[in-house]
Amino acid sequence: MTGDSDPAPVSRRRLLTGGAIAVGGALTGGGAVAATVHDDRPAPTVGVLTGPQAGTVTEPFHGRRQAGIATHPQAHASFVAFTLRRETDRAALVRLMRLLTDDAARLTQGQPALADTERELAFLPARLTVTFGFGAGLYRAAGLDDRRPVSIADLPPFTIDRLEPGWSGGDLLVQICADDPLTVAHTQRMIVKDTRPFGTVRWVQQGFRRGHGIQDRPQTQRNILGQLDGTANPKPGTTAFEQAVWVPDGPPWLRDSSTLVVRRIRAELETWDQLGRSDKEFAIGRRLETGAPLTGEVEEDLPDFAATDELGFTVIPDFAHISLAQVPDDRSKILRRPYNYDGVPDAAGRADSGLVFASYQADVERQFLPIQRRLAERDLFNEWITPIGSAVFAIPPGCAPGGWIGEQVLG
Ligand code: HEM
Repeated sequence: MTGDSDPAPVSRRRLLTGGAIAVGGALTGGGAVAATVHDDRPAPTVGVLTGPQAGTVTEPFHGRRQAGIATHPQAHASFVAFTLRRETDRAALVRLMRLLTDDAARLTQGQPALADTERELAFLPARLTVTFGFGAGLYRAAGLDDRRPVSIADLPPFTIDRLEPGWSGGDLLVQICADDPLTVAHTQRMIVKDTRPFGTVRWVQQGFRRGHGIQDRPQTQRNILGQLDGTANPKPGTTAFEQAVWVPDGPPWLRDSSTLVVRRIRAELETWDQLGRSDKEFAIGRRLETGAPLTGEVEEDLPDFAATDELGFTVIPDFAHISLAQVPDDRSKILRRPYNYDGVPDAAGRADSGLVFASYQADVERQFLPIQRRLAERDLFNEWITPIGSAVFAIPPGCAPGGWIGEQVLG
């Protein structure tokens, strides 16, 4: 049970009129929240390998689709974006992708890469996945712009954006995820070394979720703002997931491909901390403890966006994050697979934290953009989050043993 020390909710009318935005420390008093207990606490172990042997668990690398998307999110991630050198043309890209595919195929299976100078570090893959993304610049460099999915381009600017070049763009992306940070570091080192003749590192964004094995069963992650994040995601293995994430047909370079939007979104933790729990819940439309919608009891309950309170206001405000982010059908959904980041606080102790927000969808224009436009326009939550980086990549299809990632595009 929580809520005893909660400041009072900001009045509905103040939020409606925008008056709550600057309230900060003025919020005091008692406020009630739902009593349902979320299962953050230990439950019987179900099908998750913890303990020393967890390091040897592998995820398949080969397949018609790349791993690292439908894969249950690992605890650690590094997103590495490269700028291609001027001389890196189509033939060079073929050499590069053959090399990187070979590295990934070996390392994900717990084997050292060729010429691995720290080969022992490869022996604990800890569910390592290595996923490759192609930015617009890669198609240009290869002279293959006609194979670029139309929406692989910079996103249009949004008024909420405070984008920094150091966190934006990129020709080639390598997403490295594993349940062990040393595995991620070693894999990143091998990939960066092998890419060096072909490109320079543009940015690296590292992130984390709860440590592997510290919760007894897979469950929705808690982000650094304390929220359960991922509840309404399409679930792997369902038709909804298929339709949302993968391109079903078309030429070989599109079939079984996907797209990735990476947004570095700073959390304004100093002002977020000044809000009471009820106000935080109001901004999102869900309870902090349980993840339940404001109209429900448990995380799995569907939000009732039409439900009204005694004053006639909708219980979930129409400017709450989930009201604006919800979509009418499965084909319009996106898969959010974000990681938390937590940099060094400044001298005054102000946090440098947020989300490496990673969204997968079959089509950026059809799925991601309408949601982002609505959120940018009037999401109340915008007061406490700021996009500071943005990049868009095509995720080419997977490959069979002996093949290489990108063969359908560059071959
Ligand atoms: C720091 C940035 C963000 C944070 C902390 C955040 C947090 C959350 C939380 C707590 C929920 C409710 C639980 C859930 O379903 O996961 C949610 C839902 C959602 N968010 Fe975000 N979000 C962020 C940015 C974004 C962005 C940039 C987009 C897309 C452009 C987005 C799209 C969605 C969608 C589609 C849902 C599910 C809505 C529904 O169908 O109920 N979010 N987010």
